[in-house]
Amino acid sequence: MRWWHIDPVLLLEHRLFPEDAWSAGMFWSELAHARGPERTRHYVVATTPEGTLAGYAGLAAAGITGDVQTIAAAPEHQGTGLGSRLLRELLGAASTFGCQEVFLEVRTDNEPAQRLYRRYGFEPVGIRRNYYQAAGQDALVMRLDHTEPLRDERTGSTGSTGRTAGDRDADADRRHRARPGG
Ligand SMILES: CC(C)(COP(=O)(O)OP(=O)(O)OC[C@H]1O[C@@H](n2cnc3c(N)ncnc32)[C@H](O)[C@@H]1OP(=O)(O)O)[C@@H](O)C(=O)NCCC(=O)NCCS
Repeated sequence: MRWWHIDPVLLLEHRLFPEDAWSAGMFWSELAHARGPERTRHYVVATTPEGTLAGYAGLAAAGITGDVQTIAAAPEHQGTGLGSRLLRELLGAASTFGCQEVFLEVRTDNEPAQRLYRRYGFEPVGIRRNYYQAAGQDALVMRLDHTEPLRDERTGSTGSTGRTAGDRDADADRRHRARPGG
């Protein structure tokens, strides 16, 4: 994802997360940390051959811990494997960052997303009450042990390398950025 994707990303963001969409500033801030040798973010977009935005996703890394910040497939592209491809891309980036575990928050009522995460080995580790305040919804916190190769049976594995990441953003910053709309 580059800065010129932010406008179409925001359109999709508001379609998919109408109650708590990220602002342009939040995406700009994330992308500011996605380049250079000290980068701590990995953001990607998926586009159609015609160049229309089909989905996007982002990961934050802090030391050995990664966080799925956001993952979204346009409704007309859902159920086509796009969510899986985006997640695999993030987990590949987590390997490159040297993350040995990956966390995410997902709304407790978001069954399709939870199925996707479970398929890739994420396991529930807790509940954050009223995490999505605008919607009055709790978050399920899920964790992936990323020391093992990926184990999605249908789509194969991106594997896991062991490069150790440098200093990462503070834990508090990571939490501040945690996807509010999952
Ligand atoms: C969660 C989300 C990213 C998943 O994306 P997706 O593209 O639908 O994901 P996939 O296509 O990889 O998998 C979804 C389903 O489609 C199925 N599928 C995958 N490829 C398929 C294909 N070629 N044909 C038919 N079905 C297919 C998968 O088996 C899966 O089935 P299941 O849900 O019964 O397990 C998407 O639903 C989304 O953007 N939701 C709104 C935003 C959101 O909630 N994001 C998560 C925030 S935490």
